[in-house]
Amino acid sequence: MTDPWNHLMDHLSDLLAPSMAKDHPNLPVVKAEGCYYYGLDGRKYLDFTSGIATANTGHRHPKVIHAIKEAADHLMHGPSGVIMYESILRLAEELKTILPKGLDCFFFANSGTEAIEGAIKLAKHVTKRPYVVSFMGCFHGRSLGALSVTTSKSKYRKFLQPTGLVYQVPYANPTACPVHEDPAEYFKKKLENDFDILFNHQVTPEEVACMIIEPVLGEGGYIIPPKGWLEKIREVCDQHGILLIFDEVQTGFGRTGDWFASQTFGVTPDIMAIAKGIASGLPLSATVASKELMEKWPIGSHGTTFGGNPIACSAALATIEVLKEENLIANSKMMGDYATRKLTELKAQHPIIGSIRSVGLMIGIEIVDPDTGEPDGHTLLEILNKCLEKGVLFYLCGNSGEVIRMIPPLTVTKKEMDTGIQVLNEAIIEVGKTAHIQPTNS
Ligand SMILES: Cc1ncc(COP(=O)(O)O)c(C=O)c1O
Repeated sequence: MTDPWNHLMDHLSDLLAPSMAKDHPNLPVVKAEGCYYYGLDGRKYLDFTSGIATANTGHRHPKVIHAIKEAADHLMHGPSGVIMYESILRLAEELKTILPKGLDCFFFANSGTEAIEGAIKLAKHVTKRPYVVSFMGCFHGRSLGALSVTTSKSKYRKFLQPTGLVYQVPYANPTACPVHEDPAEYFKKKLENDFDILFNHQVTPEEVACMIIEPVLGEGGYIIPPKGWLEKIREVCDQHGILLIFDEVQTGFGRTGDWFASQTFGVTPDIMAIAKGIASGLPLSATVASKELMEKWPIGSHGTTFGGNPIACSAALATIEVLKEENLIANSKMMGDYATRKLTELKAQHPIIGSIRSVGLMIGIEIVDPDTGEPDGHTLLEILNKCLEKGVLFYLCGNSGEVIRMIPPLTVTKKEMDTGIQVLNEAIIEVGKTAHIQPTNS
């Protein structure tokens, strides 16, 4: 594949569905390694997207590549259910050691959205109840079941047939807390009130199979719930025999500074969906629950052709090994704290930065109109394009695309972090909507 393919980029929108082909920014890339993409233009780009929170071990980690090659030499395809192989069993054993206690039985699939489908289906099988509660602004995937609980953007839901089986409760956004209130107390009370409305007016709790939530709002804008809020949801679920599902597709595998956000927040769900960082970029996901719950899923009621692919499972085993050996979970926390300090300095200098929301290396930088404080997705795109010109790739999130996602691989060094933040600062200055002050170097 040495022929130049620049000309194909001119036909991108003819060749690929515009729903993807017009997404930001479609950087033509020929190779990736560690924290970097290598562009078709011969330039090297610092990657602060990790393939959307997936290349947690860095791109093409040698250990992961070695595991993939070894696996491909032996077995390329299962399917599990027809044959059985070592890597899938070893992976299940390994995952048990890093997941919260009690989450120890696995249904492997290929993508985040499939893991969500499995989670909801399992909850309905276990409880024999029809309804699902999800939280406003969450993103759970693009298949129709996952979409029915997704409300990060209404455009994703267009033409979704109303099923009437899902109810929505507001997510807690600490930036929306009244100034003189304590966010933890305020949102706890608000949640109680929201559940009162839900259960008294819309659906009886006895009919609810599960509540599904992202423990940190991802695509919806990197919103971190206040202390005690997830505990309250756990409490209400327990009170009514409702199963709690955590969507840890994006938060998992060290992103939040722990293996999983469940550990960061000290709340264990009944069912968890994991994907993205699990196999450093190979398609793999899992619906996870206790054996007790999984046993209530009748034989043959759920299945897969590709799920738990042997090569992907081997990549996942190597991924976990690398995350452990290289202390990448600790690095996620350390670099996340470091970046947050530096970004807070930037915020003090640039009124265009509305808020910084971070947990580990899951960092959101909100861009607002400095005069009105309103979200400003338009300026954000200008900033991201400037960053790209300067060789740093960022991605975005939020209902109107107003939040810069800073999600570098967990291997990111202090020097790379400094470069990324310095470029971001220059880009903000160049779009010219803020004071021209340089950040201090620390
Ligand atoms: C929290 C969350 N859940 C589910 C999904 C869907 O995952 P996939 O794109 O692998 O289907 C995503 C993808 O971004 C996600 O961030």
